[in-house]
Amino acid sequence: YSISRDLFESLAREIEELKKERNAVILAHYYQRPEIQDIADFVGDSLQLSQQAADTDAEVIVFCGVHFMAESAALLSPDKVVILPELNAGCPMADMVDVEGLRAYKKRVPGVQVVCYVNSSAEVKAESDICCTSSNAVKVVQSLAGEDILFIPDENLGRYAAKILGRSLQLWPGYCKTHHRLTKDDIEAVKKEHPLAEVIVHPECREEICQVADYIGSTAGLINYAKNSENQEFIVGTESGILHQLHKVCPEKKFYLASERLVCPNMKMTTLEKVRDGLKTLSPRVTVEEDIRVKAKATLERMLAL
Ligand code: 13P
Ligand code: SF4
Repeated sequence: YSISRDLFESLAREIEELKKERNAVILAHYYQRPEIQDIADFVGDSLQLSQQAADTDAEVIVFCGVHFMAESAALLSPDKVVILPELNAGCPMADMVDVEGLRAYKKRVPGVQVVCYVNSSAEVKAESDICCTSSNAVKVVQSLAGEDILFIPDENLGRYAAKILGRSLQLWPGYCKTHHRLTKDDIEAVKKEHPLAEVIVHPECREEICQVADYIGSTAGLINYAKNSENQEFIVGTESGILHQLHKVCPEKKFYLASERLVCPNMKMTTLEKVRDGLKTLSPRVTVEEDIRVKAKATLERMLAL
């Protein structure tokens, strides 16, 4: 934890009481701080979190993640109060595509089908045909017939899906600033120290990283792989927050973060104090304008239906 045990326990108690009072559920992504993961009702990857957000009976959803995740919850559940404890927690990759740019592209390539990574704004989703996450990108692309498919905004995930399927996709030049910090030299240096370790990476990594990986998958995919592998050691190429669950799920195995720089500053903005204050004040709230919400929800639901 980044706070003392005593402080953790007192904040966790406060949060628990407020949660009951508010009939709230706390959802957290695997990249969140360990103490946030430990007070959450559900910790998951982007797909699992959007499924949870769609299914919950709670009146309030506290989303410990980044803005597009809370926005997805808000567009799936318009009657619920969706709280993002730190409103400035955005995703730089999601900001790499805007609706004007996307509309201009669609004008240039009439009939193009747009697959939109969930790491995107509701406005961009509203202008797309179907969503995907890193755990189902291959399946989503596979579900589409036709030649002209544009994948936005993550070039790396799009390239990965295209390669698996042996299909050509039009790729938007977006990327995750955190995963892009990881280089092949980083992997080679850790590999030298731990030659028996398997290299497991997220598809948001650069191509040169994916080429040397033993397994590529979403955060939930990586945890699952480590759990089921006979190997005892892993070099992990994704955001540092995942180590908390990896250690919990496989306490006897060893995990080495491929680079110290694999920290997403936005994911780390959420703190227990902010979660408590969010429950107390029911703010900051994330809402989506109704006409955009309806269209974006349809794009997301096409994915959830697969
Ligand atoms: P997943 O949890 O779907 O692997 O997403 C990774 C990510 O970068 C979320 O911002
Ligand atoms: Fe966005 Fe990358 Fe951070 Fe995920 S890890 S929120 S993709 S910047």
